[in-house]
Amino acid sequence: MEEVRVLVVFGTRPEAIKMAPLVKVLERTPGLRPVVCVTAQHREMLDQVLEVFGIKPDYDLDLMKPGQSLAELSVSVLTGLEKVIRSSGCQLVLVHGDTTTAFMGALAAYYSQIPIGHVEAGLRTYDKYAPYPEEMNREFIGRVADLHFAPTVQSGLQLAAENRIANVHVTGNTVIDSLQWTIQEKFNHPLLAKLDKSRKWIFMTMHRRENWGNPMKEVFEAVARIAAEREDVEFIYPVHPNPEIVKLAGEILGGKARIHLTEPLDVVATHNFMARCHFVLTDSGGIQEEAPSLGKPVLVLREKTERPEGVEAGTLRCIGTRTERVYREMAILLDDKEAYRMMSEASNPFGDGYASEHIVQIILEFFDL
Ligand code: UD1
Ligand code: UDP
Repeated sequence: MEEVRVLVVFGTRPEAIKMAPLVKVLERTPGLRPVVCVTAQHREMLDQVLEVFGIKPDYDLDLMKPGQSLAELSVSVLTGLEKVIRSSGCQLVLVHGDTTTAFMGALAAYYSQIPIGHVEAGLRTYDKYAPYPEEMNREFIGRVADLHFAPTVQSGLQLAAENRIANVHVTGNTVIDSLQWTIQEKFNHPLLAKLDKSRKWIFMTMHRRENWGNPMKEVFEAVARIAAEREDVEFIYPVHPNPEIVKLAGEILGGKARIHLTEPLDVVATHNFMARCHFVLTDSGGIQEEAPSLGKPVLVLREKTERPEGVEAGTLRCIGTRTERVYREMAILLDDKEAYRMMSEASNPFGDGYASEHIVQIILEFFDL
């Protein structure tokens, strides 16, 4: 019997982290053959993940260009993937989440009339500019996908309410599968030598488009104030390589005592620093899903989140980006032991660590294998 070829498409760091465990399960499943296509919407940050998971892509579109617009990126992903879909002989295309790569991957598959599986389906804020452009990307993908792999019951119900009940499957989030690969008891890293273990470490990231410019500046000012006032904290901040962000972070936080600006960390380092920090300050999506498992409070630098499960679990709090509020919320987590305890009880609403296996089972059933 011929193997069914499953084209797995991704291009950014978070997609790679969440698709890698699925590729691994597909590789060992008789009857299925993963064909990996990376768009390289991200380059260095993607390559870090491919290396950690030992994945060698079958196709690499190598599309990253500094400063390219969403439209330019979309066109090159769409036309690049059209050729790959044609030459790969695939019978299913898997995309992840809500990036430009994912949206254009789904569109290219639709134009070629190949079935589409959407991993991490059904997340919603129902605000088209928050997050931007991810909210509309995932809504558009939801419209053309044939199989919807929702990470939680809530995301599944949201899709069902949008009238696509038949092929919605609640699988858990593959990010929890990924965490099982990366967390190490004996973790070593050059940055550890620069950190003082007696201090509280605050792990921070920031990259969302809607936070570029003034919102980011306001947050950085709160961070600078906390670092200046308190000798018992240290910030670990791997800066997203977008030139605008690197510039602003350097201007406001560069060279300041107790603030460690670094290049993006690889995923093993990131998860292990998160596991050892006091709390997390971020606008990242994936980090909101990882922190509850690690029992780390997250101050979410956004007004709303598509991960309400983490808010209900008590781990996430949306605090926006105004300096005063960000400063005050950090101070509470540093000073108020009870408030800290309430947010730091580990509780993971995002799956059992076997999401990839669940997804593959559904794919096998889809092809009557
Ligand atoms: C993208 C996704 C966003 C996701 C984020 C994860 C879209 C529209 N945005 O945003 O949903 O949350 O990735 O990180 O799909 N760069 C490098 N090296 C890299 C990666 C990026 O230099 O390895 C720089 C380049 O100048 C690049 C810029 O960052 O042009 C922006 O990258 P892009 O993929 O367009 O957007 P992100 O903000 O990373
Ligand atoms: N991450 C990483 N290195 C870093 C910062 C984040 O490996 O320096 C990981 C993080 O643990 C999570 C993912 O990258 O798994 C989140 O990616 P990002 O915040 O860029 O995107 P989002 O999840 O917001 O789409």
